[in-house]
Amino acid sequence: MAEQRNEQQSQGLLQPGEPERHPAGLSASHTVPQDPDTWEPTPMIGLVRSGAPSSGDGRRSGIGPLHPTDADDVAHLWESCGLTRPWNPPQADFLRALAGPASDVLGVRDEGDHVIATVMVGHDGHRGWMYYLAVDDAHRGQGIGHQLVAAAQEWLLARGIPKIMLMVRAANTQVLDFYEEQGFGRSTSVVMERWLERP
Ligand SMILES: CC(C)(COP(=O)(O)OP(=O)(O)OC[C@H]1O[C@@H](n2cnc3c(N)ncnc32)[C@H](O)[C@@H]1OP(=O)(O)O)[C@@H](O)C(=O)NCCC(=O)NCCS
Repeated sequence: MAEQRNEQQSQGLLQPGEPERHPAGLSASHTVPQDPDTWEPTPMIGLVRSGAPSSGDGRRSGIGPLHPTDADDVAHLWESCGLTRPWNPPQADFLRALAGPASDVLGVRDEGDHVIATVMVGHDGHRGWMYYLAVDDAHRGQGIGHQLVAAAQEWLLARGIPKIMLMVRAANTQVLDFYEEQGFGRSTSVVMERWLERP
């Protein structure tokens, strides 16, 4: 048991029950937009194009920054994908990422304009982080997950960030194959944590 735990720590895996992290660069001091009418998406400029198709405005086909009014849709998606934890209100996480200067949430919509897939992306000026990669169950296996990973990578490269990181909860190790197949390796760093304020 202890050996397995040590191995998971050395792989940078989260422990069961560990809270989702915010992208570095996000903090509670970031103002959450109160008025969706005045909200402006983070511009996706200078995207480095690779692999999968992207549209003329620099966004991958069908993938773009989400809007504060998507908060309930997104929270529902993250809950249905098993990505939420009781101490981490998903709407607040979502709105903070939209409000932060170095983070965003990219998503895909269905014909009814509902959000069916997301990835949160952010950076600390050095490392980029990807969170909340989620594809609605009914839309899986069509390449949307791969496209979102690629879009997050492009978002970071466009901001001069050369490295992308992510954390996988220990209970979700089956998804490691998905990432490894896209060129991700297991980190030798151990993730440490400390609550500064109890939720
Ligand atoms: C992981 C996830 C985003 C993949 O989305 P997707 O749109 O189905 O991904 P793609 O269609 O681009 O790729 C699918 C392929 O990736 C691989 N894959 C996807 N999920 C996998 C998993 N959990 N384990 C192993 N391989 C997986 C398979 O090879 C699959 O091919 P197949 O459909 O022929 O079997 C989706 O399964 C999901 O939302 N899971 C729940 C949330 C989650 O765990 N997110 C990651 C948090 S770190």
